[in-house]
Amino acid sequence: MLPSRQSLAADPLRPLYHFLPPANWMNDPNGLIQWGDEYHLFYQYNPNGAVWGDIHWGHAVSKDLVNWEDLPIALAPTPGGPDAGGCWTGCAVDNNGTPTLIYTGWKDGVESVCLATSTDNLRTWHKHPNNPVISGPPADHNLIGFRDPYVWRENGQWHMIIGAGTHRGSKALLYQSSDLIDWEYSHLILLGNTHSTMCECPNLFPLGNHHVLIYSPWQTDDTFYYSGELEKLGLDFNQTGRVDYGTPLFAPQVFQDKDGRWLMFGWLKERRTVEAHTAAGWAGAMSLPRHLTLGPDGSLHSQPVAELQKLRGDQLVLENMSIAADTERPLLVQGNCLEIKIDLISEASIGGLKVCCAPDDSEYTLISYNAATNELALDTQHASLSPAAMRERHTYTLPDTGSEPCKLHIFIDRSVIEIFTADGQCLTTRIYPTNPDSLGIKLFAQGDSLYVPRMNFWQLDAIWPSSPGS
Ligand code: FRU
Repeated sequence: MLPSRQSLAADPLRPLYHFLPPANWMNDPNGLIQWGDEYHLFYQYNPNGAVWGDIHWGHAVSKDLVNWEDLPIALAPTPGGPDAGGCWTGCAVDNNGTPTLIYTGWKDGVESVCLATSTDNLRTWHKHPNNPVISGPPADHNLIGFRDPYVWRENGQWHMIIGAGTHRGSKALLYQSSDLIDWEYSHLILLGNTHSTMCECPNLFPLGNHHVLIYSPWQTDDTFYYSGELEKLGLDFNQTGRVDYGTPLFAPQVFQDKDGRWLMFGWLKERRTVEAHTAAGWAGAMSLPRHLTLGPDGSLHSQPVAELQKLRGDQLVLENMSIAADTERPLLVQGNCLEIKIDLISEASIGGLKVCCAPDDSEYTLISYNAATNELALDTQHASLSPAAMRERHTYTLPDTGSEPCKLHIFIDRSVIEIFTADGQCLTTRIYPTNPDSLGIKLFAQGDSLYVPRMNFWQLDAIWPSSPGS
């Protein structure tokens, strides 16, 4: 049984329109699929507390990618089975009308590939009698990890990419199958990086005229992509970059919906101490659903899906605002459940927004743009007075667009901030203000004046209860 969402509804840090479980620990999105008129979101879930461990698959459905309904746990470890120690990350496919989950079984340090199918519209799941369908990595590569299968169908065959590692760096393995049960190892891809010994959650998919490989190096808080020709996978990828220039977006998963859109959810890790999230009774949130496209140069672009506009409540538009050099201007609009679109024009100065500001300025999060260097920064160094909160400064250098304004699209949802830039990049972070009145918004300019031709605010509706009685 899942706990009730009311039990944590009074916690002012719980996001109100991002997906997160009713309580306890969540990590990676799993098994993303659109089936009939429902989107399914499974997730790595610990039913016993707000720390990682005893991993099950939580499950929720949505008709619009915005409002979610909790469903019972989809997969639980089977005592004595190959997943006795946990049902780790995996994906979902439509196998000729049979919904099928392909996931990592974990038992006593052994990682394997397991299957489960459903005959009741993805409500309950039956583990395959042949589990594990792959009992471990090929012996001859000296691999130290083997997890997170991602499966797709191409040219009448099933293909799988699965994360692996060696002491010398990340790898991914490719397999093929005609029936999802018998798998033949094909080859290994070198990810050519030194970030980590293990590639977690690789996703490989066609986008535009390229293929894109997304992966998350173990024990980092980053996710990277390559885009290029499939034949040259791992050798000659045109573009490489970060999927998000903030942290903590990790282990994202992509899927294609019936409209042909490639959509992505990622796990937004906590940026506070384990003690703090254990005490809070919950940990982890999902990113907003992002629509992925390729830029003309092969770079990966993300946009929030259009469906999120459903959440928009009251709107306020501010126009033609000038902020004198070295001043701040508090705005009448307030809140921490907001969408903001802002255009900034500044001449060789630093300007931008302070959000989630305490009335006495003891807490605020800075979103700043430096016109001299084109650097966009998301700075949480003053976001919280709590010693449990991490203090970080995330940056992304925007392309030079001459006299064009810097256009930002910002989502604030209590402890989550996601910023989308006009060139399709994202900066995401988590914040933990301690003051319930840390709701103020200010424009600021440093060194020179700032001009804001236009700014739109929307109060966004909650999809979750926000007080114990609501
Ligand atoms: C990524 C990850 C996966 C693993 C799962 C376990 O966050 O470590 O590699 O399958 O989480 O919960």
